[in-house]
Amino acid sequence: MFVKNEMTSFYKNKLNRMSDFFFGKTGIKKVPFFVFLIFFAALTTTANFSFSQQDSTSTVQSGMAPDSIQAANDSLVGQADTTREAMEQDESTAAVEEHGSAVSQGHSTDAIKLGKRFFLGILPFEREHQACVSCHNIKPVDTLNWNPSAYDIALKYAGRDFAAFQQAVMEPSGQVMSASHQNFDISEEDLHTVKVYLDNMAETGPAQEKPSINELLLFLFLGLIITWALLDLLVFHKVKFKIIPVIIFLGAFGYQVYMIYEETVGFGRSEGYQPEQPVKFSHEVHVTQNQIDCMYCHHTASHSKSANIPSTNLCMNCHIVVREGTRSGRFEINKVVEAHEEGRSIEWIRIHDLPDHVFFSHAQHVGAGRLDCAQCHGEVEKMHEVRQVSDLSMSWCLECHRETNVDFLGNDYYKTYEKFHEQIKAGIRDSVTAAEIGANNCQKCHY
Ligand code: HEC
Ligand code: HEC
Ligand code: HEC
Ligand code: HEC
Ligand code: HEC
Ligand code: HEC
Repeated sequence: MFVKNEMTSFYKNKLNRMSDFFFGKTGIKKVPFFVFLIFFAALTTTANFSFSQQDSTSTVQSGMAPDSIQAANDSLVGQADTTREAMEQDESTAAVEEHGSAVSQGHSTDAIKLGKRFFLGILPFEREHQACVSCHNIKPVDTLNWNPSAYDIALKYAGRDFAAFQQAVMEPSGQVMSASHQNFDISEEDLHTVKVYLDNMAETGPAQEKPSINELLLFLFLGLIITWALLDLLVFHKVKFKIIPVIIFLGAFGYQVYMIYEETVGFGRSEGYQPEQPVKFSHEVHVTQNQIDCMYCHHTASHSKSANIPSTNLCMNCHIVVREGTRSGRFEINKVVEAHEEGRSIEWIRIHDLPDHVFFSHAQHVGAGRLDCAQCHGEVEKMHEVRQVSDLSMSWCLECHRETNVDFLGNDYYKTYEKFHEQIKAGIRDSVTAAEIGANNCQKCHY
């Protein structure tokens, strides 16, 4: 009886508080809570939507070793007509509908679908080679994949006939290709559908990257923690020390903000920007492994404003002979050779980019200042893909100018600074910073 009473009063208390919260006069409390509820509901809906959009191919690509894909494919054979196929169907019809063409280059959607299944390794059931997708990814991947992506291949063969495609796949040339395209026993008919699928992809563009399930789950989980912390702070007051839910709230919320920031870095040109380039040119391969000096390719850095990206002419100095790379085989180097033969230049994506109102010259820094590239660009020689390591903000420039000494005595350029020369002679100072010779005057950097 006693226990029951205490229990009821406990719950009554709780209920009272709850009803106070929802129906009482403490209106101020309500606002953030309801705003939060709506926010959370919206979040959950978005997440659910994204889950339902996840397609079967992403699981095949991410992280699975080729062998395990083979195994997975084998074990999937039984289910192929049910789950995967159903998902497939939804997806490819959706994709075709989106682009409004039931017939692409005279091919039916059925052929496209079939080709896709073949590429994904759902068909044929009995085969010796791996699924194409285990090497040629369909969607963007986080880590560098040296093999050509499906879209890369699609673009290359979109304008070529089937015979050329068939020859490329079935009669591999070069070491890397021969090792990868082993035991390919594909009927002409099947390969035809693959070409149709790829031709369609060349038109519709590569599949878009979707946020990974793990990240979404983490985001949701943080949302839950935030909900709990807020509820405790505003309603339940269970935790004795208020500081605990406050810290948890700030931590979880801060991490969510960080996750959103990470997502946006990819869109803007800022610190950490590391776009995928049209050719998988690696500084590590060229500078570290083949001992090519930065200045061999960026030779204008010492005497002109721009460090310049080398033309295909320069690449051909070596690649007239070197036609195969250890990692990428022939495909990437072929892009360079073909661009050169057709007189096209490669459209590199610019990484470092100051706004137009700022003047920056490599000559001042590399030539006169004798700075090392790494001071501003980091260890480029260890990057397969160049990443921007400095934020290129105004304070970044100013700080370095305050800290860095110029080569004052050995440089005729600074003869006019008599005051500093006298001070050095008199022993009052032994160095002069870049800022002191005026590098931090507004008009030096702003036109
Ligand atoms: C064999 C030629 C070659 C050599 C050697 C070379 N680079 Fe490059 N560099 C390139 C090409 C091509 C690009 C454009 C593609 C890219 O961004 O990866 C580039 C891009 C860059 C970029 C990014 C440019 C942008 O878009 O903002 C930086 C920075 C850079 N190189 C620095 C260096 C440094 C530092 C070294 C020496 C450690 C070096 N490079 C050596 C060819 C070369
Ligand atoms: C001074 C000689 C030299 C120059 C100049 C040069 N390369 Fe290379 N490159 C090589 C060598 C050697 C290899 C083979 C490295 C390996 O596979 O071990 C190579 C490999 C490659 C690879 C394949 C990497 C791999 O391992 O699969 C690509 C792609 C490439 N170079 C692109 C370029 C581009 C683009 C340029 C011009 C901006 C260029 N190279 C300029 C010497 C050069
Ligand atoms: C074990 C990995 C692997 C598998 C599986 C694979 N490929 Fe490849 N493929 C490669 C590599 C690596 C290259 C690039 C080699 C080179 O360029 O030297 C390549 C290149 C290609 C090329 C371009 C050839 C050229 O140089 O233009 C085509 C087309 C191609 N693959 C189609 C396919 C098709 C279709 C399938 C499925 C039936 C498939 N591949 C399965 C590894 C693979
Ligand atoms: C004092 C810092 C600093 C040093 C040192 C420096 N860079 Fe740069 N680099 C920059 C900035 C800033 C940009 C962006 C310039 C712009 O957007 O106008 C840039 C851009 C580049 C680019 C893109 C093309 C261009 O010129 O805009 C390349 C390539 C490059 N740097 C290579 C090098 C190499 C190679 C060295 C060493 C020889 C070097 N940089 C030394 C700051 C530096
Ligand atoms: C790693 C250090 C460092 C960074 C980062 C740096 N600078 Fe400099 N800068 C120097 C040094 C050292 C000098 C003096 C060079 C010399 O001896 O003439 C200099 C000189 C200059 C000058 C010439 C000043 C004069 O008196 O003629 C300009 C302009 C300039 N920097 C602009 C910039 C801009 C813009 C940025 C940022 C985008 C920047 N710098 C980032 C080190 C740096
Ligand atoms: C050493 C080079 C340098 C000097 C000196 C310099 N700035 Fe800047 N300034 C920059 C760079 C680099 C940016 C671009 C920053 C960015 O894009 O985030 C910038 C951006 C700006 C902007 C635009 C604001 C923004 O965030 O885009 C203003 C305004 C500005 N500077 C004013 C000044 C004034 C006023 C002075 C003199 C007191 C000055 N700057 C001196 C390098 C310099």
